[in-house]
Amino acid sequence: MSFLLLRSPTPKSPVTRRLLSTAKLPAALEERISTALSSMKAAGTFKTERIITTPQRSSINVQSSTAPVLNFCANNYLGLADHPTVTIHKDLEAQISQFYGTQGDTILYASCFDANAGIFESLLTAEDAVISDSLNHASIIDGVRLCKAQRFRYANGDPHDLERQLEKAKDCRVKLVATDGVFSMDGNIAPLRDIVDVVERHNAVLFVDDAHATGFLGATGRGSGEYAGVMERVHLVNSTLGKALGGAAGGYTTGAPLLVSMLRNTSRPYLFSNTLPPSVVGAASAALEIVSNEETRAPLLNSLWANAKVFRQRMEEAGFVLAGKDHAIIPVMLGDAKLASRMAEMMLNRGIYVVGFSYPVVPKDKARIRVQLSAAHSLDQVNYAVDSFIEVGRELKVI
Ligand SMILES: Cc1ncc(COP(=O)(O)O)c(C=O)c1O
Repeated sequence: MSFLLLRSPTPKSPVTRRLLSTAKLPAALEERISTALSSMKAAGTFKTERIITTPQRSSINVQSSTAPVLNFCANNYLGLADHPTVTIHKDLEAQISQFYGTQGDTILYASCFDANAGIFESLLTAEDAVISDSLNHASIIDGVRLCKAQRFRYANGDPHDLERQLEKAKDCRVKLVATDGVFSMDGNIAPLRDIVDVVERHNAVLFVDDAHATGFLGATGRGSGEYAGVMERVHLVNSTLGKALGGAAGGYTTGAPLLVSMLRNTSRPYLFSNTLPPSVVGAASAALEIVSNEETRAPLLNSLWANAKVFRQRMEEAGFVLAGKDHAIIPVMLGDAKLASRMAEMMLNRGIYVVGFSYPVVPKDKARIRVQLSAAHSLDQVNYAVDSFIEVGRELKVI
């Protein structure tokens, strides 16, 4: 269980638009979670978090008490947690909720892997169903494995197959559709516009893992829901603080307060593991501030998308086969595993760090070099990378 410390100022950059759906949950889910939370309250097992408002030490202040209290509930065995800087976990949760405009709640985890490990088991039981995209990230797959809900799989990004699977799941109480917002090995964006239509027709819940979208995809970096223009129709988002938002570590779930309350009470990676280190919270908060502010965000997004466009255009013109679309992940498709690792090695000899991906990370005959563009690259650097790919590609007879 995380005991969270509070810093006083409210996040800057307020977002007044309501972006993520927190209101219209399917009745079956709302009823199941409300009933479960009520039972916990009746049994005395519902956990109301005490927010610690001072640094962690032997005498602390908590929000619900005016006088200082002696702290006999901390893993601070050696008394080394008493850092002079008051930590900021609750602020970051509020900042993330505000970023999404959820009017909802956000729960922090040590990683997005943990957020995915916790969410399905907490929210679903054997009477429910998860309908999962076939290319979902390993952490979603593992999270689904941990829960007792019935499992259905639909072909990657295929709303028609999703519809068929939802038909099969029609007698299940809650039907939760789970998809990556962006598939990290292929650089393709989930067709959320079509998916939400299907989800709503079946009165299902839509969960999106936006690890490769948060902070940079969509007009204001709010992710794949914003990119598709359907953000207010997505129920739950899990994402990472470990990629675009600073890159250190950390993850979160954001969504309806009812669901987040259930996670705070039952999600095992939250209850049984430590929260994020304060330094990571501070770094993520600063990164989110940059992304929340039009003036600081725009140059980064402009540079990222300009770089991605130049890279894709020049590589395609040179004859490379590229996967994905409209994203900063641009896989150079090679097929053969040995070829992919040889090419990555030759690129490194020319001063370019790229990695070859092969089975089991991608299917057997679909080895590739996955290139990721950044706002931090200069145009010269992007052009140099393309020039190097062309040289190496010719040498290896790929083009
Ligand atoms: C789609 C997706 N979800 C979740 C994760 C896990 O994120 P984290 O590093 O925060 O655990 C990753 C990271 O590779 C990812 O690509």
